[in-house]
Amino acid sequence: MASREAFNQCLVLPILLLNCFVLLGQCGRPHNTEGEDLVTETCKHTLHFQVCISSLRSVPSSSKASDLKVLAEIALNLSTAYAADTLSYVHELQPNSSAANNIYVSRCLRDCEEEFSEAIENLQDSKQALGNGDCDQVDTLVSAAMSDAQTCEDGFKDMKNEDSYSTSPLTERNRYFSELCSNALAITKLLV
Ligand SMILES: *[C@@H]1O[C@H](CO)[C@@H](O)[C@H](O)[C@H]1NC(C)=O
Ligand SMILES: *[C@@H]1O[C@H](CO)[C@@H](O)[C@H](O)[C@H]1NC(C)=O
Repeated sequence: MASREAFNQCLVLPILLLNCFVLLGQCGRPHNTEGEDLVTETCKHTLHFQVCISSLRSVPSSSKASDLKVLAEIALNLSTAYAADTLSYVHELQPNSSAANNIYVSRCLRDCEEEFSEAIENLQDSKQALGNGDCDQVDTLVSAAMSDAQTCEDGFKDMKNEDSYSTSPLTERNRYFSELCSNALAITKLLV
């Protein structure tokens, strides 16, 4: 019995400690932690933790950030940069699909060019909104950018109805982009 009690007591302490961490995680916004800790604490509030950690850490200044707003701006910068990179990738794909004379793919890629140009504008405006402290507007603009990428992706699905079907060459990119945006949204929400 004695050992059973000791065993129970051993269990109680970790459970109490765990509760403390959970409560701290909920009540104490990670405002006063710094550097890598701030990145990790912040990423815990996002849906795509690994993407959040690896993308933020790819920007050296994130480890010195002492403020959530800086991380939110870095997250928006990362989404913008990835959208711009995807736009140039679409430019690279375009001549290939014309060469293959696939007018459907070519048309989808042209739509994707438009969608990603809009996404980039939306994200640039969202940085301005963040600067003005208008988090609702950030939310609206980043959501619009996500839906731009979704529209690009859906174009290829719609092609299933045509006689010439091709899977989207952008699925992976669209997925990663939407994860970056989702994380940026989650980080911005922590500022409210
Ligand atoms: C975000 O990008 C802009 C433009 O490239 C740059 O001037 C700014 O320093 C970046 N912000 C952060 C927090 O890295
Ligand atoms: C386009 O086609 C060329 C030649 O077939 C190939 O080398 C290149 O990798 C292709 N580009 C892309 C983005 O697939």
